[in-house]
This record gives sequence, structure tokens and C-alpha cells, in this order.
Amino acid sequence: MSSKGVNIQPAEGGLGVLLIGLGAVSTTFIAGVEAVRKGLGKPIGSLTQMGTIRLGKRTEGRVPKIKELVPLAELGQLRFGAWDIFDENAFEAAITAGVLQKELLNQLKPELEAIRPMKAVFDSRYVKKLQGTHVKQAASKWQQVEQLREDIREFQKKSRVARLVVIWCGSTEIFIRPQPVHESLKSFEEGLRRNDENIPSSMLYAYAALKEGIPFANGAPNLTLEIPALLELARENRVPVCGKDFKTGQTLLKTIIAPGLKARLLGLSGWFSTNILGNRDGEVLNDPDSFKTKEESKLSVLHHILQPHIYPDLYQNFHHLVRINYYPPRGDNKEGWDNLDIFGWLGYPMEIKIDFLCRDSILAAPLVLDLALFLDLARRADMYGIQEWLSFYFKSPMTLPELYPEHDLFIQLMKLKNTLRYLRGEEQITHLGLDYYQ
Ligand SMILES: NC(=O)c1ccc[n+]([C@@H]2O[C@H](COP(=O)([O-])OP(=O)(O)OC[C@H]3O[C@@H](n4cnc5c(N)ncnc54)[C@H](O)[C@@H]3O)[C@@H](O)[C@H]2O)c1
Repeated sequence: MSSKGVNIQPAEGGLGVLLIGLGAVSTTFIAGVEAVRKGLGKPIGSLTQMGTIRLGKRTEGRVPKIKELVPLAELGQLRFGAWDIFDENAFEAAITAGVLQKELLNQLKPELEAIRPMKAVFDSRYVKKLQGTHVKQAASKWQQVEQLREDIREFQKKSRVARLVVIWCGSTEIFIRPQPVHESLKSFEEGLRRNDENIPSSMLYAYAALKEGIPFANGAPNLTLEIPALLELARENRVPVCGKDFKTGQTLLKTIIAPGLKARLLGLSGWFSTNILGNRDGEVLNDPDSFKTKEESKLSVLHHILQPHIYPDLYQNFHHLVRINYYPPRGDNKEGWDNLDIFGWLGYPMEIKIDFLCRDSILAAPLVLDLALFLDLARRADMYGIQEWLSFYFKSPMTLPELYPEHDLFIQLMKLKNTLRYLRGEEQITHLGLDYYQ
């Protein structure tokens, strides 16, 4: 099927990327973009920068870069801003995070030092391990939202950008279940006025962005956008949103390996995952309430991919355990061990061991870049509400309540690319291919 495509506004003018949290992921992203601009490194891991897309028949040989197919902002058009509860500029924060080498950071010092975080909206009831010093004072959550909206407008004016996107790269908040106050925009706004405790800081940022008509992505496992009130606002203001929890490290590997086991109908009796990491994220996750938010996000993945209700002989009652251990000597260089107990023909057992010495923020940075550029594209194409085609980037992709999320990385990629083909009126690729032979 081919269509005429969708009318997309051109990517003219600057694009402001406002990051909530100026920690390991944000600084690795910003410094990375600056390094690529200066020719000091390559944007490895980024689909928008390096990815290609096949168009039409295999015999046509049309394989442009994704950024040649759809109009995306160029790296030179990006301007960065951030909020954080610590008053460190991006250079200092990058040194604290300890991800990138000082030698590289020194070459980017003027650009990074120029990025000073705005005062955060923060309440340590929602992130128990942190105490902020660079935090807004206001009498109510409603007023905090007003201050955030003012920050956004001020940033846009000062940096003279044409458009903005906002991405949550802040710490993981405690686990919160949807409550009546989240049910509608009206009840949510009443809740803001009376400081309802079920509205954590992340929802204030999301509300402020959506009120300003700015796309929002949630890189952490917090509930944030996944409440009817904010989805209603996104639809009302025609703003695209997506989340949640960047898919990096161990979960990335899970969504690569599990579809393979299922494709070959190999059974699974258990999957044990344990991690050691020593960055600030690890410290926050050392609190059981924040860990619970992360755990929920990590556990659902295998179930959705393996579908035990459809394959009871292979996947019923498999054991799935996930542990994260805060171990400071490791810093951002996490180590994740996986033990898979699988079984094959006639039920004979086998084991797979994986030891992934990964760098969390190195895996996350290109996702932030792609999400900023694709959300901006979605806005210019008048796509709004949940952007399921961006599931590729998340551990717990957002969907409509009546749909189950798609976790298989390869289906997610196909969905993303078919969405881009659709936007440009190119044929969908089904991989049928019979016509070559008949
Ligand atoms: N690194 C990865 O691969 C990865 C993968 C998936 C999800 N995440 C999530 O992304 C988030 C960022 O990870 P990180 O490694 O950069 O963590 P980090 O601790 O280095 O950075 C988070 C920053 O957010 C700030 N912060 C906390 N609450 C805030 C608030 N209300 N307003 C403004 N700033 C606030 C903290 O002060 C800190 O500087 C975490 O929630 C993490 O769970 C990271």
C-alpha cells in the first residue's frame, strides 16, 4: 500500500532540547552531540544519524539514510537547556558523572560550561535518596507549574529556537499507582491547587510542557505521562508524547535474545538477571520504592515477548528475577550477569550465561538524540498523543490501555521504519517477496 504521505512542516530554525536532570545520561548526550559537531567522535547507536531505510523493491537499490527520507533537525540546529537540583554546569556535571574522559570534556569545555541548570521542581518524598539545593520555592504545585512554564518561555526567547522538546532524564521516582486525581484533566488541575501528594515532580514538568504545546518523552520508569489527565491534555493540545524508561543494557539484550528463543520455539524455565552499578542512578535505585518502579518496568518485558498464554508448553511459569546492586567502585560502568535456563527437543535443559560489561549512559545518549529529533518530526507532522512507533527506545512502551505493548526489538524497528515510510508515502515493506519468483 502506498499513500501520498503526510504534510510535514520543514525543520527550519533552532530546536531547543530541554532536559529534566543534568546527570550522567544528559551530559553524555550533550557532550556527545558537541563532540560530533566538532568531528571528535561519531554518533554511534543513533538511528537518526547513521540509520538507513530500504524503500521499494530489493531490485531498486534505494537505501537512503533515514535523515534523507524525513526532514529532521540537524545537529547544528540543537540548543540545550536543563533543570537540576544541583547547581553544577554541564561540564562539572559531566565530570561528576565520570562517563566521558576528561581529555574529551576539556575540548568541549566552553560549550558545556555555558549550560547551567535552571532551578528544579523537586520533593525528596518522591526520590528519597536525594536532597536538592537548587530547588524552586513555591506555595503550591500549581505555582511550581507556572514557574516551569515561565522557564520554558524564557529559554525559548533567550536561545531563539523555533521549537522545543522536553525529555525526562531525571532520577527514578518512587512507585505510584494511578489515583482518582489522575483520572481527568479537571481533577488533576484541582489536585495541583491543593498540593495532592499523588502528583510527583515529574508530572509537574510533563503538565507544564504539554500546556506549552511541547512534546515530552519520559526516559525513566516513573508513571509521569501514563495517566488519563495528561493524555487528555496531549490530545487536546495536539502534542506527541512517548515513554517510558530508556531501553539500554540488560533489557536491550533481553529484547534481542527472547524473540530469538521464541522464534525457534525453545523453552524457558528461568531467567536470572543481576547488576552491579555505582553511579547516582544506582544510588537512587538502592531505595526500595524507586527500585520497585524500575523492577516493574524490567519484569514485564519477557512476559509480553514470550506470551506464555499462547505457548504454555514453553513459557508457562518461568522464573524471572531482576536484581540491581549499588556498588560504588563501578561508577557508570555497569556489569550485568544473566543466567538463562532454557530447554529444547524433548525438554532437554541447556544454559546460557551472559556477562555484559556495559556503559549505561553510552547506550542511552543516542536514544535521547533520536527521541528529540523524532518527537520534533512528529510534532511537525501533526502526530499527537502516544507515539507507539517510538516503542523501539523504551523498556515499557506506552500504548493505549486496550493494547498490549510490543517489546520485540525487531518488530519495534519494523514499526518505526514503516511509520517513516508511511509519512513519506512510500510502500510498506511486508517481506513477502513472492513476486520476485512468480
Ligand atoms: N543510563 C541508562 O542507561 C538509563 C536507562 C534507562 C533509564 N535511565 C533513567 O534515566 C534517568 C537518568 O539516569 P542517569 O544515569 O543520568 O542518572 P543521574 O542520577 O546521573 O542523573 C539524574 C539527574 O536528575 C536530577 N534530578 C532528580 N530529580 C530531579 C527533578 N525533580 N528535577 C530536576 N532534576 C532532577 C538529579 O539531581 C541528577 O543529576 C534515571 O531515572 C534512570 O533510571 C537511565
